[in-house]
Amino acid sequence: MNLATRVARVAGAAATILLLAPAIAAGLNLDQPTFVDDVAPILHANCVSCHQPGEIGPMSLSTYREVRPWARSIARAVENRDMPPWDADPGYGPWLNDISLSEDEIAAIVRWTANGAPRGDGSEPVHERPETADEWTFGEPDWVFEFDPHEVAADGPDEFRDVPITTGFDEDRWIRAVEIKPGDRNVLHHFILWRAAEGATFQESWMAAWTAGSKPYEFPAGSARLLQKGRKLIGDFHYHPSGEAATDRTRIGLWFAEPEEVEKELITLPVWNAGIHIPAGDPNYQAEASRVFEEDVEIRAFTPHMHYRGKSMHFSAELPDGSTRDLLRVSRYDFNWQTTYQLAEPIRLPAGTRIHVKAVFDNSAGNPSNPDPTVDVRWGLESTDEMLNGLVDYVAADG
Ligand code: HEC
Repeated sequence: MNLATRVARVAGAAATILLLAPAIAAGLNLDQPTFVDDVAPILHANCVSCHQPGEIGPMSLSTYREVRPWARSIARAVENRDMPPWDADPGYGPWLNDISLSEDEIAAIVRWTANGAPRGDGSEPVHERPETADEWTFGEPDWVFEFDPHEVAADGPDEFRDVPITTGFDEDRWIRAVEIKPGDRNVLHHFILWRAAEGATFQESWMAAWTAGSKPYEFPAGSARLLQKGRKLIGDFHYHPSGEAATDRTRIGLWFAEPEEVEKELITLPVWNAGIHIPAGDPNYQAEASRVFEEDVEIRAFTPHMHYRGKSMHFSAELPDGSTRDLLRVSRYDFNWQTTYQLAEPIRLPAGTRIHVKAVFDNSAGNPSNPDPTVDVRWGLESTDEMLNGLVDYVAADG
């Protein structure tokens, strides 16, 4: 199974507990922190899911011996909030999957480094790699699909593929969780699972996504996504050649809910604007999109989606009474992470509420991710094109 997943889920839970119980964070020794007592628990809960052999982090950060040479980089990375990757600004949520560090945790790491990164006495806490490989996160899935092997050349441009899946389900299915197991993470940059439109093979509705470091998504209790009888799924692959030829065999696992367990359909509202036209070199191109809810809703999650020139995205709600509500601001959007921000508490909004999504793009040479600052860029599926799509997961407030 995806080990990152399980550790990251635990890490997410730990972060939430710290958020709710400052006493634990206050238990950190902020004057004389040591690796054994203060720093190791933070790294184990928030970093090792990616920073261990076989995962995407460039170095392992479990033991004192591994961590010591990186102390300065670690302090810098956490102080700048570059690590762990969590792009939402503070002050929104709270989020179920928040992996960001608290101010105290950052302070402890920074002070520890300034003090010469002491080990401290006693034995080091051991980071347990949970269980064996290859197991699925929520138990054996109800349905597993393996894509045909796909060869990815060593070099060349990024490759995008939409692969329709005929499920053969002879009735409507309610999906309560999805796990995507990348075949080869060296080349699979990201993967989105879509539901196709009726009788068609084009993307209609977002089901789930995978990027390096992401976790499988179990939909909020009582809610599920509907896959109507006869509908196809679509696997939307983005491959990024790694310098070595590879064969990708990605799998997806679905868990179903019984119809009587499902109180509400989880729907994703895409708030998008396909009219974007970003001039070459523009460091600060701004554009907006908006959509209105026709019914009372409970919002469960947000997924900002742009490509390499995406810089920031802001979600807000304009209520029928004219008041506005700030929902989420991601000031340092990073295409690599494709995070879904899962609300710990749903946000209820009345019918007639307009969701506004404001995005800023940086098409200048000053954006290190920019594939080409000399061209104008418009909406398109390729990563070298752009997108402005703010996805809002919601359920009807009245079932
Ligand atoms: C979701 C996966 C993930 C998590 C969680 C994560 N990292 Fe990283 N980290 C990466 C990846 C991938 C890179 C390399 C690419 C990059 O820098 O963005 C990286 C790079 C780094 C670097 C820079 C290494 C260099 O070459 O300079 C440091 C330092 C670092 N991480 C520390 C941490 C610390 C400390 C934490 C926890 C507080 C953490 N990371 C959590 C994935 C992760």
